[in-house]
Amino acid sequence: MGYLQGDKPISITKLLAMHAEREKITMLTAYDSTMSALLNRCGVEVILIGDSLGNVIQGHSSTTPVTVEQMVYHTECVARANTHAFLISDLPFASYGDPIQALDSAAELMRAGADMVKLEGGDWQADIIQYLVERSVPVCAHLGLLPQSVHLLGGYKVQGKSKDAASHMLEQALTCQAAGAQMVVLEAIPSSLGEKITEELHIPTIGIGAGPDCSGQVLVLQDMLGISPGKPPKFVKNFMDGHQSIEAAVKAYVREVKSGKFPGLEHGFAG
Ligand code: KIV
Repeated sequence: MGYLQGDKPISITKLLAMHAEREKITMLTAYDSTMSALLNRCGVEVILIGDSLGNVIQGHSSTTPVTVEQMVYHTECVARANTHAFLISDLPFASYGDPIQALDSAAELMRAGADMVKLEGGDWQADIIQYLVERSVPVCAHLGLLPQSVHLLGGYKVQGKSKDAASHMLEQALTCQAAGAQMVVLEAIPSSLGEKITEELHIPTIGIGAGPDCSGQVLVLQDMLGISPGKPPKFVKNFMDGHQSIEAAVKAYVREVKSGKFPGLEHGFAG
């Protein structure tokens, strides 16, 4: 079961303890106070104010137009209704080009209510991760498919498929951990690589298309409610199927992540 109402707010200590005890961590995105309150009622432990709001709220085809100011606004909206969940806010595109800029951007997100910031990238971000952590900004790294690099990658593609790419990604994850990251999101990688990285790290891994063996799972809320336009990615399950309300769908997500039912084999990628 997720935390119950009336329990203490979820802290990083609690998330690390859940990881140590192999209790799956549930994470979903939210960008406004109504959904923040709903996710709290459903026992979701971590709310991600993702820069995916560029897609699902603003209607852009990528996350790159999103600004720090917009992330601050949505973080404040979510934080206002948050009672228990741990809040992670994305550092948006080009807001962490050097340590000083990263600290300025992260400080704005923390002042808006974030408990942790997330940034995309591997060893090339190690200095920035270390700089932030040494200045008391908790950091979640994001590896695999990096949506902020979509123009460089030429599209949304599964990452880490070859043996070399897989071992490189494991190195990247270890480097981020050594730099002080306390969590890693793994997006669109083979399930076997999700399992391997989770085994090798001591910090929690949160998968989105990274197989069932990650320490926890995350989805974009609109995707798992089946209301995002277009064909959903393979790793998405529509939890509104068979449920009468958004609350029932989110509770089903929490149950299925906790029990290991979601993600199923059909939501994963082969190496
Ligand atoms: O912005 C976001 O919603 C994310 C998830 C896809 C993990 O980074």
